[in-house]
Amino acid sequence: MSETEKNVIKKVVWPGSTQLAPVPSVLVACGGTGEWKPNLITIAWAGVVCSKPPMVSIAVRPERYSYAIIKATGEFSINLPTAKMVKTVDWCGVVSGRDHDKFAATGLTPMPGSKISVPIVAECPLALECRVTRVLELGVHHLFLAEVVAVQASEHLIDASGRFDLEQDGLLAFVHGHYYSLGECLGHFGFSIRRKPGAIVRK
Ligand SMILES: Cc1cc2nc3c(=O)[nH]c(=O)nc-3n(C[C@H](O)[C@H](O)[C@H](O)COP(=O)(O)O)c2cc1C
Repeated sequence: MSETEKNVIKKVVWPGSTQLAPVPSVLVACGGTGEWKPNLITIAWAGVVCSKPPMVSIAVRPERYSYAIIKATGEFSINLPTAKMVKTVDWCGVVSGRDHDKFAATGLTPMPGSKISVPIVAECPLALECRVTRVLELGVHHLFLAEVVAVQASEHLIDASGRFDLEQDGLLAFVHGHYYSLGECLGHFGFSIRRKPGAIVRK
């Protein structure tokens, strides 16, 4: 892009807001232990925060029914839904476990966690079993920082070479209030600096 072209890209300045996109749209399962019945909450403010130990975060408003459950039990599972599950994902994000048994109503299957007492969602290809390590009271959302103590992956998505092929089922992304399925794969990590086989190398 030329210097002249760069000067033509005009910007407007907005007040600070949560415009980061795309973000995931996941089904967080909680409860299923002690006095708490199992529940599902849709969460878009979820992220990876550390590789070693493997840690993630979810930001939850204290008024959510799930908030009290996660605070009391210190455990939750993050379940990655497929694009086909979009309606269910939305529904779990607009009704409360105070009024609905979301597992029963959606027909999703709670499966036992391997390291946590909270269930995972059988229909989701990938489930992260999480144990809360810290809660940060940021503002209207409180951030649960959690260690991923185990991951459960659907076996039918693992090919003969052991590769886990999530693309088969198609994941879901959330962009400024709208759901999207993922498009074509454009490359892999580091492909920008790797040579194509047979490419002519100019020195
Ligand atoms: C796509 C989507 C993303 C959402 N992300 C969040 C989020 O990150 N944090 C949050 O507190 N609520 C979020 N919500 C709202 C909750 O999912 C919603 O209030 C839900 O009904 C709470 O369920 P519960 O009362 O059973 O816990 C989201 C809703 C939708 C539809």
